Amino acid sequence: MYCLGLMSGTSVDSIDVALVKITGENVNLEIELLSGINHYYPEKLRQTILEVADGQPLSIEEIAKLDEEIALCFVEAVRRIKQEHSTIALIGSHGQTIYHRPPLNGKLGYTLQLGRGEIIANLTGIPTVNNFRVADIAAGGQGAPLVSKIDAYLLSHPKHHRCIQNLGGIGNFTYLPPKEQENWENRIVGWDTGPGNMLIDLAVKQLTNGERTYDNNGDWAAQGKPNLSLIEQWLAQDFFQQTPPKSTGRELFGEAYLQQCWQDAQTYNLSETDFLATLTELTAASMAHSYQQFLKYPIDEILLCGGGSHNFYLKERIKSYWPSTTKVKTTDEVGMNSDFKEAIAFAILAYWRYVSQIPGNLPQVTGAKEARLLGDIHLPLDS
Ligand SMILES: Nc1ncnc2c1ncn2[C@@H]1O[C@H](COP(=O)(O)OP(=O)(O)OP(=O)(O)O)[C@@H](O)[C@H]1O
Ligand SMILES: [Mg+2]
Repeated sequence: MYCLGLMSGTSVDSIDVALVKITGENVNLEIELLSGINHYYPEKLRQTILEVADGQPLSIEEIAKLDEEIALCFVEAVRRIKQEHSTIALIGSHGQTIYHRPPLNGKLGYTLQLGRGEIIANLTGIPTVNNFRVADIAAGGQGAPLVSKIDAYLLSHPKHHRCIQNLGGIGNFTYLPPKEQENWENRIVGWDTGPGNMLIDLAVKQLTNGERTYDNNGDWAAQGKPNLSLIEQWLAQDFFQQTPPKSTGRELFGEAYLQQCWQDAQTYNLSETDFLATLTELTAASMAHSYQQFLKYPIDEILLCGGGSHNFYLKERIKSYWPSTTKVKTTDEVGMNSDFKEAIAFAILAYWRYVSQIPGNLPQVTGAKEARLLGDIHLPLDS
């Protein structure tokens, strides 16, 4: 079956579109990536999404408009792929997160992804599954990370302990014990590790007056020196110390957080370059802290994916926290496209919901009380 995965993450850099051929049943799937494209939001819409996700209040009328505009952008993305591939049978659309509140003290979380699935289904003529996170949240879960079960069945190694680390706006990972081990699936864990590229992107934007949106390859940060006292101070904060399951977003690691970091940096008279190096270090150090504090397994391989895996300096800093016996690579090196992995995951989640009708979450990862069917199904109008 030809399935399309649509994903726009917390970086709001682009809608990632992955066309995959899925064969097999239930969890025993073969995946072939046939096409992957980036479809960009118009700049004004992108700015609005970033502002809203950073807490700018909107009226209901404005939310409705934003919801429709995002859906139409997703439809455009599908149309681009449909010009070359007319046989798409199913769409899994993550939508655009504009708000995420993790559960706290027994109170359910809340998460909101815009980009109406019924509009995508009707305008493309293709059954569409969206709204994947809410069923997990309603079952007491974090609603994130949702890719762990996919990581488990596509990326586990028979003998190696692997961590699949996504470096999007936020960092998240799945720990995969060797598949040969007894009770393998129940021992998988994962959670959000903290900022991925989000603080780096915000800082670059601030330091260049909006001219640049990210630190290409980490070239800028690579010229600086991280301040390790600041790293120690920041890692003492609640999120990093919180026991998993846990998830986060722009609500915590957004503009206000960056301004606090900038103020902290002033007490050390950090240069702009050292500031960027220190923010990059926070991503690497928070990953290492998270694994070492809460995982307590030996790790043979860390496989990076997401946009941050292109940041060479970040990759070097990640490596520095591990002995040479722990290999740091990208998922490309084990046959999984690192740029489109998240979009591929939502194609598979749609397949599991619509075709296999099996749960997509791993309760031990998200903290949900049960494994649940994830996503709302929207069938197109009869043509
Ligand atoms: N060549 C590069 N050098 C440095 N950073 C890069 C490079 N390419 C991409 N990035 C970073 O990756 C980010 C986008 O990554 P990605 O699309 O994986 O994140 P996302 O949209 O937040 O997704 P998700 O929330 O699903 O993880 C960009 O905002 C940028 O910071
Ligand atoms: Mg992205």
